[in-house]
Amino acid sequence: MMTMTEIEAVKGFIRLCTDGYEMGWHERNGGNLTYRMKDTEVKECRPFFSQAPGDWTELGITASNLSKEYFIATGSGKFMRNVALNPEDSICICELNEKGDAYRIVWGLVNGGRPTSEFPSHLLNHSVKKAATDGAYRVIYHAHTPAVIALSFILPLDARTFSRVLWKSMTECPIIFPQGVGVVPWMVPGGPDIAKASSELMKTYDAIVWAHHGTFCAGPDFDTAFGLMHTVEKSADIYMRILSSGKEILQTITDDDLRKLAKDFHVTLNENFLD
Ligand code: 13P
Ligand code: ZN
Repeated sequence: MMTMTEIEAVKGFIRLCTDGYEMGWHERNGGNLTYRMKDTEVKECRPFFSQAPGDWTELGITASNLSKEYFIATGSGKFMRNVALNPEDSICICELNEKGDAYRIVWGLVNGGRPTSEFPSHLLNHSVKKAATDGAYRVIYHAHTPAVIALSFILPLDARTFSRVLWKSMTECPIIFPQGVGVVPWMVPGGPDIAKASSELMKTYDAIVWAHHGTFCAGPDFDTAFGLMHTVEKSADIYMRILSSGKEILQTITDDDLRKLAKDFHVTLNENFLD
């Protein structure tokens, strides 16, 4: 019989945690990941579920379209670098109740604990993305991306400015995130307020910046969500290097260039962000 860590969805989840740690995005317990499971995956995992699931815990938000869904989630206070070494201690599977306003742990976190403190943000983002993509999006990923955080100290905190800087710092960015990126001003992490502000922006964007904190990305699968995080962060890093060089910018990608790129790669850029 298969073990839990041989199940593809669990393997993919663990691999992303390791990759993110190796990128330098997950100091200590920084960052978190959730995955909305397919029915077939829940079926595969069910033999491993606890005979006595945990108590129902209120979420402080309601995500009615996630009623009775199952999520793999990192644990609050758990370190991404430990997920591969000890998944049963670091991650969990949670079931949502009928109303979508409470969860219980059915597997994992064997030494105690609860899902990430950003679970309300993750779930509201899942809720928005599930509705917007007819169920295709399954991954929400939060990382403490250093270059994006650094940029949030020196750029005005608006989506247009951030999106234009990121689009123009590396040629293929507009193809990867044609809608641009959203920006949430500094807010206290972990609560329903930042969850609501983020999920509003997730209606438009797949990536959002949390000022002075990090980045949230959404995607249909682990590769796409991780790839988006990687692309946004790399572009921000290039822009920081340009600024750090202290040299004058002699040339850049123009708005006409962006339009040509969109035409040839068949993507529709967010018109609000073009001059
Ligand atoms: P958790 O350990 O609760 O996931 O918190 C980490 C974090 O990055 C909060 O924004
Ligand atoms: Zn964080």
